[in-house]
Amino acid sequence: MKLLIDDAHLDAIKKVYEFFPVAGVTTNPTILSKVGGNPFDTLRAIREFIGEEADLHVQAVSRRAEKIVDEARHITEILGANTYVKIPAVPEGFKAMKILVDTSEILFTATAIYTPMQAFIAGQCGASYAAPYVNRIDNMGFDGIRVAQEIQQIFSANHMETEVIAASFKNSQQVLELCKSGVGAATVAPEIFFALIKNSAIDDAVENFIADFESFAGKEKSMLDFQ
Ligand code: E4P
Repeated sequence: MKLLIDDAHLDAIKKVYEFFPVAGVTTNPTILSKVGGNPFDTLRAIREFIGEEADLHVQAVSRRAEKIVDEARHITEILGANTYVKIPAVPEGFKAMKILVDTSEILFTATAIYTPMQAFIAGQCGASYAAPYVNRIDNMGFDGIRVAQEIQQIFSANHMETEVIAASFKNSQQVLELCKSGVGAATVAPEIFFALIKNSAIDDAVENFIADFESFAGKEKSMLDFQ
């Protein structure tokens, strides 16, 4: 399961990249609104930092298929290879996906997925990824993890190449559950990245090893101080 950062603040992205294995960055209009300004200034800076090999997901916001297609071309022209245009999994979005598959090499991710059938249709339309909103589905009284797992089963049972990129997480347990299912990717807010491995028992164990070493070697000493 690839891990991506669901955020557009460059400082936060840099901090996660410093400590974690990261495959790329996902954004949506709400995430971009938290940074403000020209969205391409934000997105170019992210692309420059993560490099051209990393995945960058950027959402088209038009309502009509033809304009979504134009936005998709514009986004990928500016942000280059390995940019996935996020397209909502609604009828106009499916129409745009079909046009893109027939007329371009543009990669796209079906987004705003609350039901397995949306994901199935998007997969049939050629989406590289389908993004079920785990926490939002939970908040509607359904089981977001289960929906993401069902989508993965549907892709597998139908021999489809589309992968799940699970999105909308509010805690590390939700991420762990999907990790166990082996979905293709999960996109996670920076604070959730750090929560994935936050555990005082782990910190205590590491601190105790350091204290035991320093008890015979001396304060601030490490293996570097010995031959
Ligand atoms: C990703 O595709 C979604 O835009 C995002 O993860 C939604 O997250 P939220 O439910 O926290 O807004």
